[in-house]
Amino acid sequence: MTAPGTGRRIAVLTSGGDAPGMNAAIRATTLIGRAAGAEVYGVERGYRGLVDGAFVPLGAADVQGILREGGTILGSARCKEFHERAVRDRARAQLAERGIDGVVVIGGNGSLTGALALGDPDEAGGTPPRVVGIPASIDNDIGLTGLSIGVDTAMNTIVEAVDKIADTATAHDRTFIVEVMGRDCGYLAMTSAIASGADLALFPEAGRPEKEIVDSIVDTVMAVRSRTRRHRRAIVIKAEGVQLPVERLKERVDDSLRGRFPSEDPGSIETRVTVLGHVVRGGRPSGFDRLLGSRLANVAVRALLDGRTAKMAAWMPPVELPEEVGARSSFDPYCWLVDLGAVLVETDNLLHGRSPLARWRAGVFDEIEEALLL
Ligand code: F6P
Repeated sequence: MTAPGTGRRIAVLTSGGDAPGMNAAIRATTLIGRAAGAEVYGVERGYRGLVDGAFVPLGAADVQGILREGGTILGSARCKEFHERAVRDRARAQLAERGIDGVVVIGGNGSLTGALALGDPDEAGGTPPRVVGIPASIDNDIGLTGLSIGVDTAMNTIVEAVDKIADTATAHDRTFIVEVMGRDCGYLAMTSAIASGADLALFPEAGRPEKEIVDSIVDTVMAVRSRTRRHRRAIVIKAEGVQLPVERLKERVDDSLRGRFPSEDPGSIETRVTVLGHVVRGGRPSGFDRLLGSRLANVAVRALLDGRTAKMAAWMPPVELPEEVGARSSFDPYCWLVDLGAVLVETDNLLHGRSPLARWRAGVFDEIEEALLL
């Protein structure tokens, strides 16, 4: 049986690390898909649920009120087995059995890689399911999109936490190292450092060796301690992608500071460490992430129902795109529909410092590092 109107059945899944705003994308996919006459199914627990056949029909009542909830109502998983073709064949069979011919995949790099393989006509033979991705990851490490879902909420969470840490740091003239998520990408560390008025940001794109990192913190502490005004504390935001365990960093910085301030009580110069961890990924999505999830889903689901495949809905790409790579959406001038294969190539470039954007991100911090301390 086919749905009235388009005669289409589509599925939506969330995969990989959850991101605040995923629910907004599920909701908009459901509402816009249904309004266009399609039947919409949610897949529970990402690709794992796709392989196991965990489908649930989604209607307006199922997505009511979810806009304001963090996480994802469909659940998410990291499904390593999806790298195997036989497992993807099982997923395609589950879709075909239900007459579902299009899938919206909401997730990050790994999830979008899975989407491209799922819809690969060479691999599938016959008619593979159509796939359109929606970038969702707090890391902001996905190519060809200015932002992915969850980044804004995560940045706000970090800023709120750092504001609190700054109060106690200021009261005691202390140095805090605050570690934030972001896997291999320093975007959250960089932007939250600016937005919270931190004194230093450490991120993997800078490629600094351990000694330079330690020295940069010590220099920052020296600089803030030479201030005559009230704020003599230092806040350092460290991205988790900087391959230096935060406890080791603290030890090395403390050793060095003891040498620089031999007459001070060691307790008064010792740094404090806060690892924000998964706190950064949770919480109610910001208004912007709700909007972003809704708008990207609008573009994605319309593309899918229009018969497009191997695409991703993108938010204001930060690079010029040749026509064959992407085009502005006719439904939303802030959104683009970009080639999924090109997204994955650019993501890889971004994560390995080969992209001009990655170089710009690192370079701009070189230029402003001293200004952060003023
Ligand atoms: O990709 C999102 C992210 O939160 C990263 O920032 C982090 O490195 C990773 O996921 C943590 O993954 P998990 O929740 O599986 O520990």
